[in-house]
Amino acid sequence: MAFHPLSKNTHLLQWVAKMAALCTPDSIYWVDGSEGEYRGLCDQMVASGTFTRLNEERWPGCFHARSDPGDVARVEERTFICSLSREAAGPTNNWVNPFEMRRKLRKCFAGSMRGRTMFVLAFSMGPVGSPMSQVGVQLTDSPYAVVNMRIMTRIGLSVFAEIDRADRRVVPCLHSVGRPLGPGEKDVPWPCNPEKYIVHFPETREIWSYGSGYGGNALLGKKCFALRIASNLARDEGWMAEHMLIVGLENPQGEKTYVAAAFPSACGKTNFAMMVPPRALVDQGWKVWTVGDDIAWMKPDANGRLRAINPEAGFFGVAPGTSLKTNPNAMAALSRNTIFTNVALTPDGGVWWEGMTEKPPAECMDWRGLRWTPEIAKESGARAAHPNSRFTCPASQCPTIDPEWERPDGVPISAIVFGGRRATTMPLVYQAFNWTSGVYIGATMGSEMTAAAEGAVGKVRRDPMAMLPFCGYHMGDYFGHWIAMQKRLAETPRIFHVNWFRRDEAGNFIWPGFGENVRVLRWIADRTRGRALGRETPIGWVPRYEDMDWSGLDFSAERFEELQAFSRAAWRAEVISQEELFFDLHDRLPKEMVYERELLICRM
Ligand code: OXD
Ligand code: MN
Repeated sequence: MAFHPLSKNTHLLQWVAKMAALCTPDSIYWVDGSEGEYRGLCDQMVASGTFTRLNEERWPGCFHARSDPGDVARVEERTFICSLSREAAGPTNNWVNPFEMRRKLRKCFAGSMRGRTMFVLAFSMGPVGSPMSQVGVQLTDSPYAVVNMRIMTRIGLSVFAEIDRADRRVVPCLHSVGRPLGPGEKDVPWPCNPEKYIVHFPETREIWSYGSGYGGNALLGKKCFALRIASNLARDEGWMAEHMLIVGLENPQGEKTYVAAAFPSACGKTNFAMMVPPRALVDQGWKVWTVGDDIAWMKPDANGRLRAINPEAGFFGVAPGTSLKTNPNAMAALSRNTIFTNVALTPDGGVWWEGMTEKPPAECMDWRGLRWTPEIAKESGARAAHPNSRFTCPASQCPTIDPEWERPDGVPISAIVFGGRRATTMPLVYQAFNWTSGVYIGATMGSEMTAAAEGAVGKVRRDPMAMLPFCGYHMGDYFGHWIAMQKRLAETPRIFHVNWFRRDEAGNFIWPGFGENVRVLRWIADRTRGRALGRETPIGWVPRYEDMDWSGLDFSAERFEELQAFSRAAWRAEVISQEELFFDLHDRLPKEMVYERELLICRM
């Protein structure tokens, strides 16, 4: 047990002492990251009731946790970007004056860890020692956060050694569940506080998170660091921190083409990252490789080629809808050494969620710990698993994990793909004319709202580059940074837009999706290598029917025309609606975005 410091870095030691004086934990524990330590913490949580160990035979090394019903997701309305000026945060972020916020936070954190252990958790986003990686230290009173972070990032001794060796700048992350314990008071299984603050100070690169133990609120390496703080680092240093998956498509000759892709939530991002090609393409020798499912850090190399790493080491995936049919690779990845949160528990010590199997279990315990049966569900509409229930599993367990996924210098990115869930207007795939028009496509991308989200069903919610909740500064400046990246690149990745969700007049999906999406990926890869033809339209380049590989799929040319159809009337409405977000950003909108919009109108 390491109750003594594991680092000699004086800044780090001073900061830990200062934060401990503020939060007054009973003890301070330095996390070494070992397997034994992980097991010990899991055992402790089993004993305290936070964890249930799953059936060792069927789910080896797996645990189940049930959160407080009021702590089940990221809290965007309690997430703040506290830059020195309101202007710098922009109109799409919550902002509070940083001096005022610090006063507020100091009050919250004062004594917040009483009766608990404060863990000192050093973590590396990206392979330890890679020039593309960044280092953080999270102080947390949540052992649940520690064990999840051990799966999601690289932690422990090697990271402390890196801090000491390279005297690296560390992003300080302070986290408390905000539930101090009185003397002899018994803890609850999921401590948290109804008052929550997820706060970022971009200038000083700090994260302060209070009141939540769940997901992105508590695993501070993910959204807080790898996107909100990293987007600031990236802008200042000339690279890109993006909410993107990374996949590689290998052709029968063994040549790999890597693609980074951004989709808003509920568009099957994890499924796309782990796609299984259709039989006919597998037989020809096509393979899909997974590098990452959520975040990409991309940097120009010495030759001006954009290269990407996945800064994470695990998947924190949404469980419902994941099945052997929709994503067999995710199912294999989560079959062992996985932490499940807010899914249902089956009587034989297993887990279940909606969509996992066609036939639900006859009985289980739902995510709130209540008895659940299909009959009860029919009557009350109760769900067995929470819609945002999650699995936390090591990326290395994914059968399609790319052999190069931990390359310190990343993989070369040939294409960037944007996508959304659109019933109309958007074709299956089109390619931007050039970098700037591609940035415009990313800046205006959106998804139709489903019943789960607030707002009118069917209305398009704009989510530029899927970064609306994750960009740590003004969105207008963010577009400007994208535009400026072109000058740093000898060759820009080609930019594409895809839509798997177009419907016909009867309301049916036109495209089968899932593994068939590899056909689209293939056209994209071939385009980047100058091997596929296309046809010019007012919105960009599109494949002709004969440009796609149809082996093993019966999909007619007429159906393809319907899928790819460009409607002038629909696009008029689209361009008018794209203006809405630009309105809010107008004072910092790069002129290229205005010109691109004008050009698009002219072409139409
Ligand atoms: C996620 C998200 O959890 O984007 O990855 O919300
Ligand atoms: Mn995400």
